[in-house]
Amino acid sequence: MKAFVVDRYGSADRVRASDVRDPEIREDDVLVQVHATGVNPLDSKIRDGEFKLILPYRLPLILGNELAGVVVRVGPLVRRFKPGDEVYARPDKNRIGTFAELIAVSEEDLAIKPRNLTMEEAASIPLVGLTAWQALVEKARLQKGQKVLIHAGSGGVGTFAIQLAKHLGATVATTTSTANVDLVKRLGADIVIDYKKESFEEVLRDCDVVLNSLDADTLTKSLRVLKPGGRLISISGPPDPEFARDLGANRMLELVMRFLSFRIRRQAKRHLVNYSFLFMRASGDQLRQIGSLIEAGALRPVLDRVFPFESTQDAMAYVDTGRAKGKVVVKVRERGRLSRGREPVAPQRR
Ligand SMILES: NC(=O)c1ccc[n+]([C@@H]2O[C@H](COP(=O)([O-])OP(=O)(O)OC[C@H]3O[C@@H](n4cnc5c(N)ncnc54)[C@H](OP(=O)(O)O)[C@@H]3O)[C@@H](O)[C@H]2O)c1
Repeated sequence: MKAFVVDRYGSADRVRASDVRDPEIREDDVLVQVHATGVNPLDSKIRDGEFKLILPYRLPLILGNELAGVVVRVGPLVRRFKPGDEVYARPDKNRIGTFAELIAVSEEDLAIKPRNLTMEEAASIPLVGLTAWQALVEKARLQKGQKVLIHAGSGGVGTFAIQLAKHLGATVATTTSTANVDLVKRLGADIVIDYKKESFEEVLRDCDVVLNSLDADTLTKSLRVLKPGGRLISISGPPDPEFARDLGANRMLELVMRFLSFRIRRQAKRHLVNYSFLFMRASGDQLRQIGSLIEAGALRPVLDRVFPFESTQDAMAYVDTGRAKGKVVVKVRERGRLSRGREPVAPQRR
């Protein structure tokens, strides 16, 4: 099958199209023919080796962290899926590789694709949808009437998190640039801070939750807008000791994470707020819940651009600009075509 792989960690030109062997499936795996795959900053970080310590992949590695597609075959222990089902998923972090024509995904990580979405729309959801869910529902337990600040509201995570927070009944503040003010308002943001014109830490007060996806400076400033007892959740680091424990990291790695997050944890304590790092995880169950909300019209995908499969490197370069509005997706295959097993699939244009 065709796939986009990285042989050695490094720059963008290290990613190349390659013919690789079809994946083998385990007893509880589902073989999925990928129709579309979302592109995320995580793909470039993995390509660049930034996650080497946390995710020790064997190279060459097929990149790609989310997909929508059609079930081709299932392992003998699989109960919930059958060939022909339309599905979507964020595969487990240790078994990525959605920039490919086929992927084996554990049944646990898969869900039926929301019926009202195209393959491209569905492929844009899993990584950011699960991130927003695990930050706002699981960690923050965001309640009706609470106030949440979602940084970078126009990005992949932001566009989804704003909608989810609104659905949960929160008052939503967000940061974005002038060009994207209307977009985040349309998604439901109540308070929009145009970072080109004003500083969020001077405008906002008494937030219950902040979801940070930006730099260390933004993280520190975010402490000032939280009320005592509030929660600062960061998905852009620094990792904390609890994350090291969840990861099953060795003592050395735990110490590194303790050191990296020491300053922000100490500052958070002084402000009487809780700091935690989140690294999202795969979950078919949560994707089912997200899918129901999408089918009910409470949440919708926000797509910026769709690239053809052969332009996967261009799609990654576009995400690397840091200016995407919502999600960037690669279309791997046209709908309705039958699986042809090992036969390479011609790249499809938008
Ligand atoms: N830990 C995890 O589990 C996890 C999961 C998902 C993502 N992440 C991380 O979270 C970060 C965001 O991911 P993403 O997918 O949302 O990225 P993205 O879609 O590439 O973000 C692009 C958006 O960021 C906005 N932005 C850039 N600088 C900004 C600033 N100073 N203030 C406000 N908005 C700003 C841009 O809007 P403007 O053009 O208007 O500036 C653009 O719309 C990445 O670092 C990613 O790796 C982590």
